[in-house]
Amino acid sequence: MTEPARIGIVTVSDRAARGEYEDKGGPAILDELHKILVSDWEAVEVVIPDEIDIIQETLIDLCDDEQCCLVVTTGGTGPALRDVTPDATAAVCGKMMPGFGELMRAESLKAVPTAILSRQTAGIRGNTLIVNLPGNPPAIHDCLMAVFPAIPYCIDLLEGPYLETDEEYCKAFRPKHAKKRS
Ligand code: MTE
Repeated sequence: MTEPARIGIVTVSDRAARGEYEDKGGPAILDELHKILVSDWEAVEVVIPDEIDIIQETLIDLCDDEQCCLVVTTGGTGPALRDVTPDATAAVCGKMMPGFGELMRAESLKAVPTAILSRQTAGIRGNTLIVNLPGNPPAIHDCLMAVFPAIPYCIDLLEGPYLETDEEYCKAFRPKHAKKRS
């Protein structure tokens, strides 16, 4: 039997990490991924403060030690002084994937003009794709639905597990020549 795909879910929020505020972002990502994915997967969930060193250490741990094929962060993408999630992401990635941020901002702009305040991005560390989402739960839905169709093939190219989606909810796109794996 193949091992379930491991997906890191990282809430970056000072208040949620201190327990002053209920984490709504992490559960929103979990819920969305349960709707999107039909292949076997398991979540590795973390709630951390907006500290660049802690964010970097957490991302490295989820990629290198926890062997997540995908890490999704929420929060800390804006312009405020303590918003440093995209900076931490860029610091640990060998390659940036700017198309993710471009598409997510374009999609979010249909909902709110403040979409342009998010510096959200994505990048590759080793065999792991890291994607930043804003902190607002409705943004999590809008952004994940926009980029997820391209994520399974990105993970194929990184030699990760073969992710399958519920085609009625979110249809993954793979080029015709891509090999189907079990
Ligand atoms: N994107 C969507 N889809 N919906 C939103 O409500 N909020 C914006 C933006 N992107 C928002 C959005 C706002 S107000 C900010 S400041 C930035 O995301 C950054 O949010 P973050 O710091 O919580 O990551």
